Amino acid sequence: MSIRVTLIPGDGIGPEVVNAAVEVIEAAGCKVEWERAAAGASAVPTHGTPIPAETLQSIRRNKLALKGPLATPIGEGYRSANVALRKEFDLYANVRPARSFAGVETRYSGVDLVVIRENTQGLYSGVEHYIDDERTAAESISIITRKGSERIIEYAFNYVKQNKRRRLTLVHKANILKCTSGLFLETGRGLAAKHPDVEFKEMIVDNCAMQLVKNPNQFDVLVTTNLFGDILSDLTSGLIGGLGLTAGANIGKQAAIFEAVHGTAPDIAGKGVANPTAVMLAGVIVGAIAAAELANLPGVRSAVEAAYPAPALSSFRPGSTLGSYDAVGAFGALTFALALAIAASRWRGYPRLWLTVVMAAGLVGAIASQTWAALAVLPIITLIVVAFARSIPRELAIAAAQYAFRQAARQEQLRVYELAG
Ligand SMILES: NC(=O)c1ccc[n+]([C@@H]2O[C@H](COP(=O)([O-])OP(=O)(O)OC[C@H]3O[C@@H](n4cnc5c(N)ncnc54)[C@H](O)[C@@H]3O)[C@@H](O)[C@H]2O)c1
Repeated sequence: MSIRVTLIPGDGIGPEVVNAAVEVIEAAGCKVEWERAAAGASAVPTHGTPIPAETLQSIRRNKLALKGPLATPIGEGYRSANVALRKEFDLYANVRPARSFAGVETRYSGVDLVVIRENTQGLYSGVEHYIDDERTAAESISIITRKGSERIIEYAFNYVKQNKRRRLTLVHKANILKCTSGLFLETGRGLAAKHPDVEFKEMIVDNCAMQLVKNPNQFDVLVTTNLFGDILSDLTSGLIGGLGLTAGANIGKQAAIFEAVHGTAPDIAGKGVANPTAVMLAGVIVGAIAAAELANLPGVRSAVEAAYPAPALSSFRPGSTLGSYDAVGAFGALTFALALAIAASRWRGYPRLWLTVVMAAGLVGAIASQTWAALAVLPIITLIVVAFARSIPRELAIAAAQYAFRQAARQEQLRVYELAG
């Protein structure tokens, strides 16, 4: 027996990544009958609309769809086909997990959080217009209802419980948007009282963005309104390595559409470099729902993860990271600590004890940072310092340390610019 699923390849990199996902799911032995359907910009020339009626009928019939990204004209043209699909099937819960891959090097390790975004209301309600023909000003209306807030926040509380999570953070901007965001927050506080077994926190969205970048591991599940969720979930994708790795689910009572979080990536479409991981993971969930008992789907997640092997201690690479330190950062910090120790030892008269302690700490740091640079250079520096500790002028040691520290800070800054593109 097989189960029928609507398959929308979509635009840009969509067909490349969706076809790769289908291949993997079928190879895993999952008996899904894919019903291909058109949507997005690629559907306009053939069907005259970005959401053909046949596509809607297919989703209505199958209740389950795997979708590639759909292009939306920017600043003009027809409304987003994605938004329209979510509205059509009332897919009110957009679930976007971000979980680190052991082998994908990013600034953070062990990230495991989920953004649950209200998917049908807020500033994406589509109620906006120019106030005159000259386009001198424009208005957009954010619609938030108590019912809409209740169902998404209730969904989030249940998600926490069912998935054995511990904490729910409601993200809002009720200090400024007192009615819309205020209603969402008020609803959340009311529901929190009904779920005393879930730790409930609230956070203003701008602070949340900063906290996510500073320490993502403090978060577990986040629930928020449409626009904030859209932005924050791209941010959380970035924390684990990028949009190519993050799958998302659009869930309603009548249907569910699974997809990658990313868009059509026109800059890389057709070049064969798009990462299919995100849509593969979305496909795994579709397959699991469709035919879990027939397939070896958990094996697909493991196989995808195996494509990103964690670096072993035996494969040190220059520039690999320890938290936010890079090789030069770790080296500079250690040299700085050594120089301070020399200075302190002069005053206290226990140079060897101090140096031994610092050397041991430095060695542990170097091993943990998994960098050849730190490992190779540290013992040499330490030996020189131990040998000449008493003869190096203190000012020279401090000046050398300050130089190393400045270089380290500069490298760190360059790295930030590099990451920012
Ligand atoms: N769910 C959806 O269908 C969806 C989501 C977001 C954007 N869009 C649409 O996509 C179009 C382009 O939007 P955008 O450029 O802002 O966002 P985008 O997600 O398409 O691209 C952002 C960046 O991420 C990179 N990227 C995205 N997916 C990747 C992958 N699988 N592998 C490697 N790199 C990847 C791109 O190359 C680009 O540099 C717009 O028309 C937008 O409306 C659709």
